[in-house]
Amino acid sequence: MTHVFTIAIDGPAGAGKGTLARRLADHYRLNLLDTGLAYRAVAYALLQLGLPLDNVSAAETAARQVDLAKLDRSVLSAHAIGEAASKVAVIPTVRRILVEKQREFAKAPPGAVLDGRDIGTVVCPDADIKLYVTASAEVRAKRRLDEIESIGGTANFDEILADIVRRDERDMGRASSPLKPAADAHLLDTSEMAIEAAFLAAKTIIDDVLAKRNKA
Ligand code: C5P
Repeated sequence: MTHVFTIAIDGPAGAGKGTLARRLADHYRLNLLDTGLAYRAVAYALLQLGLPLDNVSAAETAARQVDLAKLDRSVLSAHAIGEAASKVAVIPTVRRILVEKQREFAKAPPGAVLDGRDIGTVVCPDADIKLYVTASAEVRAKRRLDEIESIGGTANFDEILADIVRRDERDMGRASSPLKPAADAHLLDTSEMAIEAAFLAAKTIIDDVLAKRNKA
């Protein structure tokens, strides 16, 4: 049986996981899944229905209806939906439903890069490579602000920073699959790194693992 290769990328909001995941998927010709979009889709469905984000049964139904192949980033990427997603992401049954779909995705050859909060710890604990990508809250807030301004939006740095700190607390403090580095994750702090440098650092880690494996 051919080995399905998995790269798990975890870390807090705005650390640069998404861009890094895309670069790695292109480079190693793997499938790509931004698992945050699935949580965002559940939150978006509840918001559209005018339901509160702690409505467990509606959130479960929305989670069952998520089709990972049809997640629309242009609709789901809004900053406010990220905040809402972190509220539905505390519901254990929602996580269970989405994790199952993500595992199915990861199984398809030739393998995948998945990014999220619990990929190395829960979704793909046997991933070939685990990266934990982080950056200071201030740097992440500045990146988010630049991103919003680059598409013609306006935002306030202090508000974004407060949102990021609140989201970190929710993601790291929840009982079900809290955000934390897997014991065997490689840590990558991108606070003072441009995306190209982060990509090269990740590539060095991955190529090293591949070289050792080919020798064994
Ligand atoms: O990564 P993104 O900002 O799109 O994620 C939105 C929210 O979805 C996160 O703040 C987190 O609460 C939740 N999430 C999660 N597990 C994942 C991916 C995202 O709990 N694997």
